[in-house]
Amino acid sequence: MDCLVVNGGKPLSGSITVGGMKNAALPILFATILVEGKCVIENLPPISDVTTALEILQAMGAKIHMVNKTTIEIDTTVIRCGSAPYDLARNMRASYYVLGAELGRFRQASAACPGGCDFGVRPIDQHVKGFESLGAKVSVVSGYVRCDATESGLKAANIYMDVVTVGATINIMLAAVKAQGQTVIENAAKEPHVVDLANFLNACGANIVGAGTDIIKIKGVDALHGVTYAIIPDMIEAGTYMMAAAATGSRLTVSNVIPKHLESITAKLEEMGVGIEEHDESVTVIPHGRLGRVNVKTLPYPGFPTDMNPQMCVLLCLADGMSILTEGVWDGRFKYTEELIRMGASIKVDGRTAIVEGVETLRSAHVRAVDLRAGAAMVIAALTAPGETVISDIYHIERGYECIVEKLQSVGADIHRVTMADVGASANVS
Ligand code: EPZ
Repeated sequence: MDCLVVNGGKPLSGSITVGGMKNAALPILFATILVEGKCVIENLPPISDVTTALEILQAMGAKIHMVNKTTIEIDTTVIRCGSAPYDLARNMRASYYVLGAELGRFRQASAACPGGCDFGVRPIDQHVKGFESLGAKVSVVSGYVRCDATESGLKAANIYMDVVTVGATINIMLAAVKAQGQTVIENAAKEPHVVDLANFLNACGANIVGAGTDIIKIKGVDALHGVTYAIIPDMIEAGTYMMAAAATGSRLTVSNVIPKHLESITAKLEEMGVGIEEHDESVTVIPHGRLGRVNVKTLPYPGFPTDMNPQMCVLLCLADGMSILTEGVWDGRFKYTEELIRMGASIKVDGRTAIVEGVETLRSAHVRAVDLRAGAAMVIAALTAPGETVISDIYHIERGYECIVEKLQSVGADIHRVTMADVGASANVS
């Protein structure tokens, strides 16, 4: 099994370019199920979740041509409803976007109950509420979610989300885009990737207004046509590298970003005493001595992103004083703190709150990636810790970070990917 070996304690310098946003690419790829004709999708991040999504679509009958590493042509004209492979779909939460897209196109849908990072319970009751409001009958049968609106058809509805949920907002949008009449989603998620999906669908001929606000109106149309569309840059990948710079006291430019999407991250780093220079499509992190302590609460966009929780925690571990990190979205997102404690961090977790006492430095250790963003946080922690840290279970990291080793090596990090056998021979971990 592969792992990452990092010799930390050295500053980084230079510039890292961010790729397309995973959480925009996944819904947009599944949204092509709704489109009659060929789409060209550009700036796709070459990560394993995108590969999985393409494998699912191909298995369903989509014709896919890789134009280059980040551009594909896809034509879903002949896909078969309900044919998403169970084992592929169950491992990736975003596969449940097949439900909204199939419902929107075929008036019926079937896909495996979703998997994804383990943050405790990850219900889909709001997705079901939305589909039922549009007229579908929804049932869970032997691990599959099945939706059927073949008799009633899909009719517009006013849907008030009980919680702000990215996935359900997206899935309802997908189901409603060809429904009869105008559907209104209230208390909708406002994330940039929700807006990116709406922009893609509108480019295909949909009629969606209000994406990015908490009220989204979707007027059903008869057909969607193919389009060429580029995915927005990944704000979480950008934020991760900003945090790596801040944690290692490095001056680093992160390019191919939309600064507005990073506002809450920039604000928190500035509150900790880090300088941030904003340019049109890049940000430069400028360290100013030891990080100051802060309190952080993760919230739906435009709040501080939950997907930056673990990365921010590493900074709080090194800050001067005690900080409080509160998780405002997920129940169980603090599993990774046990790994940071192995590296000498001082963290006490109580439910959705972590109390972090800053220490001078973290120490190298054998640690593991417990999920995607936690894995990225372990890389940041390892970059700050003098000596050799080994990170296992790195498949989590590769789901969402393209070429993280090469990108960090390009700015001076001593980081390598090795197989476990090699580590047994050479690892010299304290
Ligand atoms: C998306 O997950 C992202 N995944 C997650 O990022 C991210 O953490 C999350 O949004 C929040 O921003 C993808 O986009 C593929 P939610 P999703 O539905 O859609 C509750 C990453 O690192 N809820 O917005 O599954 C839920 O329990 C991943 O890239 C219900 O109660 O998240 C949670 O508390 C990890 N009922 C809250 O809403 C529902 O039917 C937000 O969940 C659905 C959700």
